Amino acid sequence: MKTLIAYFSRTGITKKLAEDTAKKTGADLFAIEPVKKYSGSYLLCVAEAKLENLKNARPAIVSKPQNLSEYDTVVVMFPIWWFTCPNIMLTFLEENDFAGKRIIPVCTYGSSGKGSSEAAMQKACPQASFTSCIEATALKDKAADAIAEAIAVD
Ligand SMILES: Cc1cc2nc3c(=O)[nH]c(=O)nc-3n(C[C@H](O)[C@H](O)[C@H](O)COP(=O)(O)O)c2cc1C
Repeated sequence: MKTLIAYFSRTGITKKLAEDTAKKTGADLFAIEPVKKYSGSYLLCVAEAKLENLKNARPAIVSKPQNLSEYDTVVVMFPIWWFTCPNIMLTFLEENDFAGKRIIPVCTYGSSGKGSSEAAMQKACPQASFTSCIEATALKDKAADAIAEAIAVD
């Protein structure tokens, strides 16, 4: 059983959770990095993300994870943008081979919860088996433990 934690994070909240979870579980970490960085301004980024939604864009990612075939479980962590996952998560799910793998989605957010992220991700990656999305923000300092438990379930 080998687990990869792949995360996208703009301001570091999701990154911190990914690092805490990796420390707790021994899973490997992979950062999903956009070729074109999102704006550091919240308002501008909100507009960028809206445009990506409207265009159904697939923003390019700097690199792909190495040896993905070795992992049975992939935890994908992301912030909620506009009540769903950022479009870059769809790029990630579409351009890598997740056939036969278990994917555990984990989201952070301000207040809205996971929105329609589960359906969007499953549509982008029908060949994987998804668990329900863990809403990490509501779990506060118990989030990494909850993710570790989900990883441990066979
Ligand atoms: C473009 C954009 C859209 C967002 N949309 C939502 C939303 O729909 N619901 C919500 O609760 N939070 C929303 N947020 C807040 C982020 O999900 C939240 O701050 C997240 O934890 C940031 O994670 P990060 O530091 O890893 O980037 C949005 C933030 C941005 C930048």
